[in-house]
Amino acid sequence: MSYAGGVDVGSTQTKAVVIDESGRIVARHLIDTGANVIEAAKNAFGAALASVGMTGASVGYVVGTGYGRYKVTFGDKQVTEISCHGRGAVHMFPNTRTVIDMGGQDSKAIRVSDDGEIVDFCMNDKCAAGTGRFLGAAANALGMTLDDLGPTALRATKPVRISTTCTVFAESEVLSWLGKGKSVEDILGGVHASIATRSFGLLRRVGLLDEVTFTGGVANNAGMIRALEDALQRKLNVSNDSHFMGALGAALFAMDALKAGEVASRQEA
Ligand SMILES: Nc1ncnc2c1ncn2[C@@H]1O[C@H](COP(=O)(O)OP(=O)(O)OP(=O)(O)O)[C@@H](O)[C@H]1O
Ligand SMILES: [Mg+2]
Repeated sequence: MSYAGGVDVGSTQTKAVVIDESGRIVARHLIDTGANVIEAAKNAFGAALASVGMTGASVGYVVGTGYGRYKVTFGDKQVTEISCHGRGAVHMFPNTRTVIDMGGQDSKAIRVSDDGEIVDFCMNDKCAAGTGRFLGAAANALGMTLDDLGPTALRATKPVRISTTCTVFAESEVLSWLGKGKSVEDILGGVHASIATRSFGLLRRVGLLDEVTFTGGVANNAGMIRALEDALQRKLNVSNDSHFMGALGAALFAMDALKAGEVASRQEA
């Protein structure tokens, strides 16, 4: 049995997976990226291996992806996160035609062909609005943890209308709604709906085709799943491994290389 690895070094969190020849995830690990990106990549991959008692020597090929992909010093190749999220999503949900990746810094809409090739993509890289950071700013203003945001937003009955699209102003808008006596539930309902509306715009720019697969860390947020489903008027594909989709795609590219007989150029593991 041969194994391949994928390490997705995101701006906020670093995800590592090991897959077997069938493309099944056999090990995974997630850590905050922090200031030392090289260490984050090593630590995430090392912890994934350790969780199943493997060493780097048993993994034939490793692909790095994400904004820090060139910091995966033990990687054999780098592939962009657009390609990796598309590949991972199509592997897990074969009817995927559109992918929405919501991460810590930006959101990306990706359209894939029926054979899994990237057709088009669009990202809101100029501004962090519509992403985990916007949610983080709201959580901060309300003194809540990220884990609590989604479940609280689901209890909204009359969501407020959030007008700012800028993370810098998100905190003050949330506080001003609190000052006007709105409930935390309705404020968060509004925050999630505003992010969903902007993501819908991003998706329309690449062409919104069924099925739509939701990837990235924000896919852990049940309130965001609901808000996106409401805005898009359709069900989304979401998996417990949605956060690992980019790392999974990277590992699938690594397995391709391994099967094609490419020799790993790794110095260390
Ligand atoms: N359990 C959770 N509940 C709610 N939100 C979560 C949870 N875990 C992670 N997130 C959100 O996911 C974000 C991180 O997602 P992800 O790891 O996909 O980002 P990234 O790849 O580092 O960023 P980018 O792709 O923008 O460079 C966090 O900022 C947070 O908002
Ligand atoms: Mg990412």
